[in-house]
Amino acid sequence: MPQTRLTDRFGRTVNYVRLSVTDRCDFRCVYCMAEDMTFLPRQQVLTLEEIARLARNFVALGTEKIRLTGGEPLVRRDILELVREVGTYGLRDFAMTTNGSQLPTMAEPLRKAGLHRLNISLDSLDADKFRAITRTGNLSQVLDGIDAARDAGFRGIKLNTVVMKGRNDEEIPELIEFARQKQVDISFIEEMPLGEISEHDRGLALCTSEEVRDIIRRRHELIPATEDSGGPARYFRMPDSEVRVGFISPHSHNFCSTCNRVRVTVEGRLLLCLGNEHSVDLRRVLRGHPVTDDKLQEAIIKAMDLKPERHHFSSNGDVQILRFMNMTGG
Ligand code: 5AD
Ligand code: SF4
Repeated sequence: MPQTRLTDRFGRTVNYVRLSVTDRCDFRCVYCMAEDMTFLPRQQVLTLEEIARLARNFVALGTEKIRLTGGEPLVRRDILELVREVGTYGLRDFAMTTNGSQLPTMAEPLRKAGLHRLNISLDSLDADKFRAITRTGNLSQVLDGIDAARDAGFRGIKLNTVVMKGRNDEEIPELIEFARQKQVDISFIEEMPLGEISEHDRGLALCTSEEVRDIIRRRHELIPATEDSGGPARYFRMPDSEVRVGFISPHSHNFCSTCNRVRVTVEGRLLLCLGNEHSVDLRRVLRGHPVTDDKLQEAIIKAMDLKPERHHFSSNGDVQILRFMNMTGG
């Protein structure tokens, strides 16, 4: 693995890249999208070859970890080809975030294509509430997908739950028991103000990680896990289980000082921070220099200077960032 050449003005090393492979999704989660989204026209979207070329160059610059995100990555046709290609780059960690709906058929092919780990979104175990949150999602399909992922033998599977007061906060104990029974990790996420939504008031719906932790602690002791993922999640274990419980708390815990990641949208916009608009148009560089990679690598290295020191999410639910998560890379 080459020495990383991606460091920013604050001494942080960037060795983790999240690549969005589509802005489309078969779900319409209330926190992620508006109900009537318009999606990008095809020519604005990077081709699979362009995404692979980006991945290869990030690896050449020292990236050790890549996550494919969306929208929903599994609605992109030929996604397995991309996974197979990126799987040959010798990454320490190669993961995907998915809503799980396609996993009943895709879990095993993904594992065989070289993907190491999966994050699967699961906000409710109640079919009606699941439908209300995802607008179009089918819970039993996702539960089958989780089982298929377990059978496929991934190195790690983690559930992601965005906790919202009045929608799913009462289900925290059930979700914990579910994770314990399935032997998969689970992270609880505070909703972030990305994109303007109308279904609930984010300020009122915010359920802080501290509140979630208090609910879990009524039943289980939570012991801080020693290993540090270098990411924004803080992890705990329970005394009688291998399952890790994570908390991602953009509102109540500032994790920016150890941030090791950048994102690339499916339009090829390199985003230096989830909570800021600073970005660089890599699609222009990709398409302007189709043969050699030096200009592309130069642009990536130079972009690190734009990485902001921190995000400024406030907890009153105000939208500071106009792009939705599906345009950001979840
Ligand atoms: N706040 C927090 N998490 C979000 N996600 C999408 N939108 C938001 C938001 N506004 C996360 C969900 C989902 C993943 C794809 O992105 O956890 O699992
Ligand atoms: Fe789709 Fe994930 Fe967004 Fe839900 S959160 S609409 S599953 S991309």
